[in-house]
Amino acid sequence: MKVLVVGNGGREHAIAWKIRQSPLVSDLYVAKGNAGIWEIAKRVDVSPTDVQALADFAQREGIDFTVVGPEAPLVEGIVDEFESRGLKIFGPSKVASQLEGSKAFAKRFMEKYEIPTAQYSVFEDFDRAVRYVRDVGAPLVVKADGLAAGKGAVVCFSEDQALETLENFMKKGALGGAGRRVVIEEFLEGEEASYIVMVNGDRYAVLPTSQDHKRLLDGDRGPNTGGMGAYSPTPVIDEDTERRIREEIVERTLEGLKKEGIFFRGFLYAGLMITSDGPKVLEFNVRLGDPEAQPILMRVKGDFLQILLDFYEGKDVEIEEDPRWALDVVIASKGYPQSPEKGKIIEGLEEVKNLEDVVVFHAGTTLKDGKVITNGGRVLNVCAYGNTLKEAKEKAYEAVSRIRFEGMQYRKDIGDKAFKYLDRESSSRRS
Ligand code: AMP
Ligand code: GLY
Repeated sequence: MKVLVVGNGGREHAIAWKIRQSPLVSDLYVAKGNAGIWEIAKRVDVSPTDVQALADFAQREGIDFTVVGPEAPLVEGIVDEFESRGLKIFGPSKVASQLEGSKAFAKRFMEKYEIPTAQYSVFEDFDRAVRYVRDVGAPLVVKADGLAAGKGAVVCFSEDQALETLENFMKKGALGGAGRRVVIEEFLEGEEASYIVMVNGDRYAVLPTSQDHKRLLDGDRGPNTGGMGAYSPTPVIDEDTERRIREEIVERTLEGLKKEGIFFRGFLYAGLMITSDGPKVLEFNVRLGDPEAQPILMRVKGDFLQILLDFYEGKDVEIEEDPRWALDVVIASKGYPQSPEKGKIIEGLEEVKNLEDVVVFHAGTTLKDGKVITNGGRVLNVCAYGNTLKEAKEKAYEAVSRIRFEGMQYRKDIGDKAFKYLDRESSSRRS
């Protein structure tokens, strides 16, 4: 069958890599992809957000199944457009995508269905927002209502910082329309983790757990980014926490959607803070995480396309997990996340291809004169398997050390937050 993957990043490379392994695939297409994805899929020169042109292409080419990577086309209504033309596509409708597309919608939904999350207020009036900040004081979190590619949430440790953020979002239009309405949230303390499920109406199937590293620099310092690395599974989510996530978050969300009359089919990502009171939702996304999808899909066993098709058709599916760990180190360009450099030649990719247990997923890369060059902020995801997390980390960093481009930057501590949980587990097992 003919399959189309929509998107340009590391997540989409991982989706394409996994789908390519299925014997069901005759032709795999990607719109638009990157230098890595073009090695395994045919290049379609249409932007992921050009929904009409993508549907035209799918119709013309007779695409049997489409999988959407990023949020922007979902929020634009790509699924509604494809379905109106009788094309099969895995992802939520425009209405269902509001869970990610509008923070205010998501917060109201969580409040209504008693899904644990931070206390919040929504503001469209700048002066009211300012008064609220003066009343409650720091720390607090200011979030733009709309999509802002990871730049829409600012954790403010002082009142001044919160006021400045409000000014930037609401008055100066730093995020365009996305920041005209803001959500101001209680600051939650704890450990972050990502919990992603596939949803089809009232059925869901759980994907492996993972943990992202959102800040640019080691030790969780520096600005927020799209994500600088991830590993799977994460010991931050233990058995009891997972049960609570399923009952208090996933199942209540599915019930809530049903009561609202919103049909959801696609990936549902809960960005969580595991607090001393239990798991709380920081954000919902309506897609796989990037970089979480990379180690997650490395650990999903079996024919992922078959799993998706069965699930899409309404069958129950069980996701079997590879017992090994997988860890992803993101290599980014100089200047990321504010103003990344582009056009640098990347060396070492061929050498890394031959390493055992290592997979490299491309993100911001393209081709020029037959050479792979950088073309965005996050450039490569260097991933490895290991029988222990330590082994996965060592193998990934060994591979990273063989890759070179001018100005490359990456975190050296991906996975480190897990070690204290693992030490605790192994010492409690000994005692
Ligand atoms: P979001 O886009 O809502 O996921 O927020 C981006 C990042 O900001 C999260 O990954 C957290 O690191 C941080 N963050 C968001 N909301 C909160 C909160 N209520 N308390 C503490 N940190 C938060
Ligand atoms: N890695 C965070 C996200 O995909 O939203």
